[in-house]
Amino acid sequence: MLRNMLTINLLWLLLAPFFCSFTAAAIAKHGCESKCGDLTVPYPFGIGLGKNCSIGSRFDVNCNTSFNPPKPFIANGNLEIVNISNDELLVKNWVAVKCYTKAGQINYRNSILINLTGTTYSLADSNKFTVVGCDDQSVFRGSSVRSFRSGCLSFCSEREVFTDGLCTGIGCCQTSIPKGLQAISYSLQTFYNHTNISSFNPCGYAFLGDENVYKFQKSDFSNPNFRNRIIENVPIVIDWAIGNQSCSSAKKSPGYACLQNSVCVDSDTGLGGYRCYCSKGYEGNPYLSPGCSDIDECKSNPCNENGICTNIPGNFSCSCKHGYYGDGTKNDRGCISENSQFPVIKFLLGFSTVFVSIIIVVTWIYFSIKKRKLVRMREKFFCQNGGLLLKQRISSNEDGIESTKIFSAEELEKATNKYAEDRILGRGGYGTVYKGILHDERVVAVKMSRIMDENQIEQFINEVIILAQVKHRNVVKLLGCCLEAEVPLLVYEYVSNGALFHHIHDNGEMPWFSWVNRLKIVAEAAGALAYLHSSASMPIIHRDVKSSNILLDNTYTAKISDFGASRLVPLDQTQVTTLVQGTLGYLDPEYFQTSQLTEKSDVYSFGVVLAELLTRKKPLSPTKSGEEKNLATYFIASVKEDRLFQILEPRILREGSFEQLQAIGELVKRCLNLKGDKRPTMKEVAMELEGLRKFTRHPWNQQRNAEENMALLSEQSDLYDITMTNQECTTSAQDSLHIDMIFPSNDPR
Ligand SMILES: *[C@@H]1O[C@H](CO)[C@@H](O)[C@H](O)[C@H]1NC(C)=O
Ligand SMILES: *[C@@H]1O[C@H](CO)[C@@H](O)[C@H](O)[C@H]1NC(C)=O
Ligand SMILES: *[C@@H]1O[C@H](CO)[C@@H](O)[C@H](O)[C@H]1NC(C)=O
Ligand SMILES: *[C@@H]1O[C@H](CO)[C@@H](O)[C@H](O)[C@H]1NC(C)=O
Ligand SMILES: *[C@@H]1O[C@H](CO)[C@@H](O)[C@H](O)[C@H]1NC(C)=O
Ligand SMILES: *[C@@H]1O[C@H](CO)[C@@H](O)[C@H](O)[C@H]1NC(C)=O
Ligand SMILES: *[C@@H]1O[C@H](CO)[C@@H](O)[C@H](O)[C@H]1NC(C)=O
Ligand SMILES: *[C@@H]1O[C@H](CO)[C@@H](O)[C@H](O)[C@H]1NC(C)=O
Repeated sequence: MLRNMLTINLLWLLLAPFFCSFTAAAIAKHGCESKCGDLTVPYPFGIGLGKNCSIGSRFDVNCNTSFNPPKPFIANGNLEIVNISNDELLVKNWVAVKCYTKAGQINYRNSILINLTGTTYSLADSNKFTVVGCDDQSVFRGSSVRSFRSGCLSFCSEREVFTDGLCTGIGCCQTSIPKGLQAISYSLQTFYNHTNISSFNPCGYAFLGDENVYKFQKSDFSNPNFRNRIIENVPIVIDWAIGNQSCSSAKKSPGYACLQNSVCVDSDTGLGGYRCYCSKGYEGNPYLSPGCSDIDECKSNPCNENGICTNIPGNFSCSCKHGYYGDGTKNDRGCISENSQFPVIKFLLGFSTVFVSIIIVVTWIYFSIKKRKLVRMREKFFCQNGGLLLKQRISSNEDGIESTKIFSAEELEKATNKYAEDRILGRGGYGTVYKGILHDERVVAVKMSRIMDENQIEQFINEVIILAQVKHRNVVKLLGCCLEAEVPLLVYEYVSNGALFHHIHDNGEMPWFSWVNRLKIVAEAAGALAYLHSSASMPIIHRDVKSSNILLDNTYTAKISDFGASRLVPLDQTQVTTLVQGTLGYLDPEYFQTSQLTEKSDVYSFGVVLAELLTRKKPLSPTKSGEEKNLATYFIASVKEDRLFQILEPRILREGSFEQLQAIGELVKRCLNLKGDKRPTMKEVAMELEGLRKFTRHPWNQQRNAEENMALLSEQSDLYDITMTNQECTTSAQDSLHIDMIFPSNDPR
C-alpha cells in the first residue's frame, strides 16, 4: 500500500513537468481533443458536435474520422476546415466547372452554393471571385444583411498574349466582394459552347478564393487537374466572431468570452460580434480559463548578453550585470563594461602623458638652449676677457697663480645677492666693489670692472697676475677672478675697516686713530710697496698710490689695493714708457711730463699720502689759493720755510714727538722731490718709517708690537736682505742708516 503510493508519487513527480507544460500550452478545452488530423483546433472551437468542447455549437468542429487522416468540417456543414487562426478560418474551395466537347457540353459541377446564414461566419473580403476560361461568364450572388450581385466575363482566343501571374480579363476575370456575405452562389455560362477553342480550353471555371494565393497561368486553360489544384491550394477565407454583440455590450453580458489579460476587438463584418486577443506581453488562449498568461520574455534573451533580464507582468526590464553600465538592451549602448571605459581613461591618460612629456621636452630644450646660449656667452666673455690669455699665463707660470681660483659667474651672482645695491662697498675708477659671501661663508669683496675694450684685456690679465703673485700681509689678497661675466670680476679678501682716506678726512664719521696707529699703517703700506718694487720675479709699480687705495682691517693693518693701473717692470729695465695714469694730486709730476714710469712715481704718491696723513688736508684743494692748492707743493714749501709744525694736524702735534715729526716731515719732503732720482726708494721709506715707529713705542703695546714686528720681519725677510744698490739714493740711504743708528732696532728704550 505504502509502496504503491510511493510509486504513484514518484511517477507523478516524473510526469508532472509534462502535464504542467501541457496545461500551460493549453489549446483546447480541458478534456477535449485539440487535433483533427493535421489541424489543431483551438478553443473557442472544439472538436466534436454537441460535446461542449467549443464555446457554442456553431464552433463545433465535425471531425469525420471515416477519412484518413480525419477531416474537420464546420459544424454540420460541408466546409472542410484547412486552418484556424485567431482572426479567420480557411476552408477548402468549391469550384464551378463546365466543360465542352466538340459535340456539346459536359456539365461537370456547374452550380455552387455556400450558405452560412444563422452562424457568426461570413466570407472575408480578402476572397476574390474568379472566372478562368476563354468563352465563359458567371454571375455571383451574395446575401447577408443586404444582397450583392456581381459577375465576371472572360473571352480570349488562342492567339492572345497572356501574362502569367496577372488576371487581367483576358482568359481570367476577377472581381472583389464585400465583407460580411454569408450566403453566396455562382454558376458558369457560355456564349459559344467553347466552339473553335475547345482544343486549348475545353473547360471554364469559377471560384471564390484568397486573392493572394491564386496566380493565373495560361496552362490553366488546358490543365485537367486545374479544379483539384484550386481546391487543394486556394482556400476560401472566412471571418468569424463570437456572438453578435459588440465588445462594449458583451462585456456587460454574462458569458463574455475574453478572459484575463486579454483585449476585446469588435468584428468589422457588420454582423456584430467580437474576438479576443491576448494583451501585449501575454500569451495563450484568451478564451480559455484563466485567460492569457504572462510571457516570460527573458527566455528569449531580449537583453544584452551582459545584461540581467527581469520579467515583469506584461513586460520585462533589462539591467546590466555588476561591472557594466547602460540600459541593458541589445544595442550598442546596451551594456558597456566599466572596463571598457578603461581604454578611454587609458587614452586620456596616454594623451595627457604624451602632452606633459612634450611640454617637459620642449621646456627642457628651451632651457638647454638658453643654458647653452649662456654657456656660449660665458665662453665668449671668457675669451673676450682674456681667459685664454690668463690660462696661458697660468700654464707658463705655474707656481705663481696656483692659488688663484677662477670663479663661476653663478657663484659670484649668488654671493653678491645678484649685485644688490646694499652690497656695494664702493665705486671707483675701475669699477664697483660689492661685498660678497661665498658658499663657505667667507666674506669677500667682488670688484666688477668697468666694461673693457680689447686693448685693456692684457692689462686686466696683468693685474690678475700681479695680484696672484703677490703674497704679502699688507697687500689685499686676490682670491680669484671670474671671466665668464660680461665684465671681468675680481674677488678679493674682504677688508673690513674701509680706506685710509676716509679715516683721515671723514671727520666725525670715523674714530680718531692715534699717531701710533698712523705710523703703523704708513710703515706697513710703505713696506708693502717696497716689497712690490723689489719683487724677486718682476718689480711691480703700483702707479695709483693714494689714501683711498690703502685699506684698513679691524686691527688697523694696512692693505694696499687697486692694482688696476699697476705695471710689471722687467728686471733689466728701470723704467718703462707708458700712458700717464694715476690720480691727480698724487701724480708724480716728472712722470706726468716724461711718461717715463719708474718706481719713484710710487714714492712721490706715497709722499703725498704721508703729507695727507700729517696735515689732514686733501692732495688737491681747488677752493684754496696759491700754494695751498696743491698739498705737495704746499708741504714742501712749508718744510723749506720751517713752517712744518704750523700745517700739521694739531692732534698729531700733541701725540708725536718733535724728532719724529721733524724726521717724517723731512722724509715727505724727500719723497716729494720733483726729481725722481732724488727721492728715496720705497724700501728706504719703509725702513725710516719702521724706525720712527720703534721710537714711539709705548710700554703697554711693546710686547704686541714686537711680535707683530717679528711676523713682519719674517714675512718680509727678502725686503730687508736687499742691499741698496740705487746710487741716486745714497743720501737717503745715509739718512735711513742715520735713523737706524739713532733708534737701534733691538731695544728702543
Ligand atoms: C453539454 O452542456 C449542456 C448544458 O451545459 C448539458 O445539458 C449537456 O448534457 C452537455 N453535453 C455533454 C455531452 O456533456
Ligand atoms: C463522414 O463522411 C462520410 C462520407 O462522406 C459520411 O457518410 C458520414 O455520414 C460522415 N459522418 C459524419 C459524422 O458526418
Ligand atoms: C495555419 O495557419 C498558420 C498561420 O496562419 C500556419 O502557420 C499554418 O501552417 C497553417 N496550417 C495549415 C495546415 O495550413
Ligand atoms: C440559407 O439557409 C437558410 C436557413 O438555414 C434559408 O432560410 C435561406 O433561404 C438559405 N439561403 C439560400 C440563398 O439558400
Ligand atoms: C450550345 O449547346 C446547347 C446544348 O447542347 C445548345 O442548346 C445550344 O444551342 C448551343 N449553342 C451554340 C451557340 O452552339
Ligand atoms: C468558328 O469557326 C467557324 C469557321 O471558321 C466560324 O464561321 C465561326 O464564326 C466561329 N465561331 C466563333 C464563335 O468564333
Ligand atoms: C443575436 O443572437 C441571438 C441568439 O444567439 C438572437 O436571439 C438575437 O436576435 C440576435 N441579435 C441580432 C441583432 O441579430
Ligand atoms: C514595456 O517596457 C518598456 C520599457 O520598459 C516600455 O517602453 C513599454 O511601453 C512597456 N510595454 C508595455 C506593454 O507595458
